[in-house]
Amino acid sequence: MIKIGGAIVADDVALAACAEDVASLARAGARPLVVHGGGPQIDAALRARGAAIAHADGLRATDDVTVEVVEAVLCGPVRARVVAALARRGLVAVGLSGRDAGWLVAEAVQGRVGRPTEVCAELVHRLVERGHVPVVAPVFVNAAGEALNVNADTAAAAIAVAVGAVGLVLVTEVGGVRERGGGSIGELSTSAASAAIAAKVATGGMIPKLDAAIHATRGGVGRVHVVGPRRGELVAALRGARRGTRVLAG
Ligand SMILES: Nc1ncnc2c1ncn2[C@@H]1O[C@H](COP(=O)(O)OP(=O)(O)OP(=O)(O)O)[C@@H](O)[C@H]1O
Ligand SMILES: [Mg+2]
Repeated sequence: MIKIGGAIVADDVALAACAEDVASLARAGARPLVVHGGGPQIDAALRARGAAIAHADGLRATDDVTVEVVEAVLCGPVRARVVAALARRGLVAVGLSGRDAGWLVAEAVQGRVGRPTEVCAELVHRLVERGHVPVVAPVFVNAAGEALNVNADTAAAAIAVAVGAVGLVLVTEVGGVRERGGGSIGELSTSAASAAIAAKVATGGMIPKLDAAIHATRGGVGRVHVVGPRRGELVAALRGARRGTRVLAG
């Protein structure tokens, strides 16, 4: 399972590096599944509409207007870029959100921010069995079929646990988790990751990212890394090499 941050999707070089890696995983017989974010793109669309942008503990404050923009942007231009980048490398990339077949279900925690409650993995199982690469926008639905905004890292972890993924690689521009002084951290136990959030070493988008890494690790996903968008990085991490920041049980 590979999660690509929005800033990477926006960057041709970084996106190409990730797409090359996903293609080499597929060639090696792995069954890659991709989830993408879209933070900067959603911010730009909200700004263009004159809508407010606010975050709390790294999660986007989401009301009825925001969730419409989130879905339009993620399931529109952002996903199109990811699917195109993979298709250029010969992959059959299939874009979908939780709305398709109603496979990603969440409950609202605040406004239209969702917490995943159900992942019906059947749909993606069928796709990966055929050699297709699902490209997932983290838009979930509630029981009434309304869209809920789930952080992309949170979504990737929930899906990784549900499908029994061997690894979860969160690809982000910063390339890993940094200490307060700026040095990069090679390994973090789940308890140290929680402590980093509590001590405010990890702030903003790094909070849901570490929470996702903790959730995946505790849910039995073996190789959980936060890495940068360099060619070879995510392949190496999924093969067990030391790359970026690895989150381990403990
Ligand atoms: N300790 C830390 N180490 C590294 N980055 C941190 C840390 N604490 C906070 N951050 C912030 O977390 C950000 C990464 O999360 P962010 O949500 O912005 O990106 P993303 O998850 O890759 O993309 P998207 O949200 O679009 O999917 C970094 O850009 C950095 O500003
Ligand atoms: Mg994020």
